Amino acid sequence: MHSIFKIKSIFMAYLFALFISHVSDSATPKPHLTIYELIYSTEENLSPGYYYDTPSISTYTSEDNPVSWEEYSVREKTMSHLPNAAKKPIPPLVRLPTNHHRQLTTVLEAKALDFSFPSEHERHSALSDGRYNPMNVLPVDVDVYSPSNGKTQIYVTIPRFDKGPPYSLARVRNPGPRHSGIQLEAYPDYSWHRSYGADCDGLTSVYRVKIDACNRMWILDSGEIGRNHTCPPQIVVFDISTHRMVHRYRLPGTVFVRNYSRLITIAVDITDPPPNGKCLKAFAYIADATSFALIVYDMIHENSWRVENRFTYPSPLFSTLTVAGESFQLLDGVFGISITPEGLGLQRMLYFHSVSNDIQASVPLHVINNATNFLIPDISACLGNFTEVGKRGIQCTVSEMSPQGYLLCGFFDPIALVGWDIRTSYTAEHRFVLAENAETLQFIGGLKIAPNAQGKLEVWILSNRAQKFFSGTNNFHEVNYRILKCGLDELLLGLPC
Ligand SMILES: *[C@@H]1O[C@H](CO)[C@@H](O)[C@H](O)[C@H]1NC(C)=O
Ligand SMILES: *[C@@H]1O[C@H](CO)[C@@H](O)[C@H](O)[C@H]1NC(C)=O
Ligand SMILES: *[C@@H]1O[C@H](CO)[C@@H](O)[C@H](O)[C@H]1NC(C)=O
Ligand SMILES: *[C@@H]1O[C@H](CO)[C@@H](O)[C@H](O)[C@H]1NC(C)=O
Repeated sequence: MHSIFKIKSIFMAYLFALFISHVSDSATPKPHLTIYELIYSTEENLSPGYYYDTPSISTYTSEDNPVSWEEYSVREKTMSHLPNAAKKPIPPLVRLPTNHHRQLTTVLEAKALDFSFPSEHERHSALSDGRYNPMNVLPVDVDVYSPSNGKTQIYVTIPRFDKGPPYSLARVRNPGPRHSGIQLEAYPDYSWHRSYGADCDGLTSVYRVKIDACNRMWILDSGEIGRNHTCPPQIVVFDISTHRMVHRYRLPGTVFVRNYSRLITIAVDITDPPPNGKCLKAFAYIADATSFALIVYDMIHENSWRVENRFTYPSPLFSTLTVAGESFQLLDGVFGISITPEGLGLQRMLYFHSVSNDIQASVPLHVINNATNFLIPDISACLGNFTEVGKRGIQCTVSEMSPQGYLLCGFFDPIALVGWDIRTSYTAEHRFVLAENAETLQFIGGLKIAPNAQGKLEVWILSNRAQKFFSGTNNFHEVNYRILKCGLDELLLGLPC
């Protein structure tokens, strides 16, 4: 489990005192309860001068996962007392002076990807029958896992937009950092990818992954080679410490369109998170970029439903993407999906947007999590609960939410990682360039916030040059792919990475 859930001792003492003062007049005070586990702040290495907002209160309680009276009571009381008593300023987003280009740390960069094979014979065989075409690969996503006692593991996806990638999910095997390209090995192993969509128990085309707080990797396999669904799309969940599959869900034909849908992004919300939860309940939110929908997956009920309305569509006005002076057509719907963090005292929303649109949209989680609301495909289902948060006048790619409620997204103009405080209106004055670099950021395909081995949160980015891939102007003499990172606090506070 992630060690981000740390306690700030002074604050805890304060909460504890609050708790004591309340239970002391009740009949059965048991002050030594699991308050330390119940209330955890995302506070990490706080810099002087700022504090995070109210700590998260875990919400693992429910009918079939009951908690004791004490736990409930603490939760209720701290909830009702925190907002006024303990609310503290949140770290400000820092607006950099114009021309100031914050440099993220380059972890790896490459002109081309270096795929390893189980044998030289297999490499030649894949090259000769076209399963492997080094010119036709585009890495898209990155996620990392840092065990507390070991080296950070970096995972990359290389979807099969066509034949080309010998495998679509890989682990970086570079022995050291930098200057050695990006060396990949199939994940979990080559046998999962070898059949090229003939064996639907394997992985056909992984677009994005998400490593959750329960040390699981959620793998979104869109099931296609090119535009042919040789397999139904699926969600495959791996325990990242044992590399074992712990869950699989194949999407039914009712939620995707065969040979047309392309499932590209997955966001995960765990209802019973650690340290007290059992990690059994989760909702996954999936972007169907080409048939313009969101798909919701309820893990405990193994049920999924499709949400399609005007907010999940692209706009003809934003279907030309221009990156570093090169333009290409992209008429994609939902691309970025993020979720309001727990514990901010805000109604929890799903924030989503289409890449070929400039509208930022949102919908309350409890509306979208209720399958009954979307039983019948209907573009007006609960439409009144969807909100246009604002317009940005430019497209952005994938998004990620920080625990303090900053929504990050990879913008095209400027080519930058931009942050927005979800408590403010979605206007230019409330959006802040956190890192800007027209050379290294280009197309941000992967964006994750993940703890390092010490539990400190870091922002990880995979940037590629999708514009060149889709325009057929790849240049393998130049750096095409980069994996970059920066501490989340450093990024938000304008400090060097
Ligand atoms: C998709 O299917 C069509 C028709 O069966 C075929 O011509 C095409 O080569 C397939 N594409 C890929 C990438 O396999
Ligand atoms: C989808 O593509 C597969 C693989 O090419 C093909 O066998 C199938 O007939 C196609 N289905 C539809 C509905 O077009
Ligand atoms: C789900 O929505 C339906 C109406 O569409 C409502 O009757 C029901 O109470 C909701 N369920 C939950 C658990 O909120
Ligand atoms: C959803 O929208 C309906 C009608 O627009 C409204 O009555 C209802 O209060 C909304 N629910 C939420 C949770 O916003």
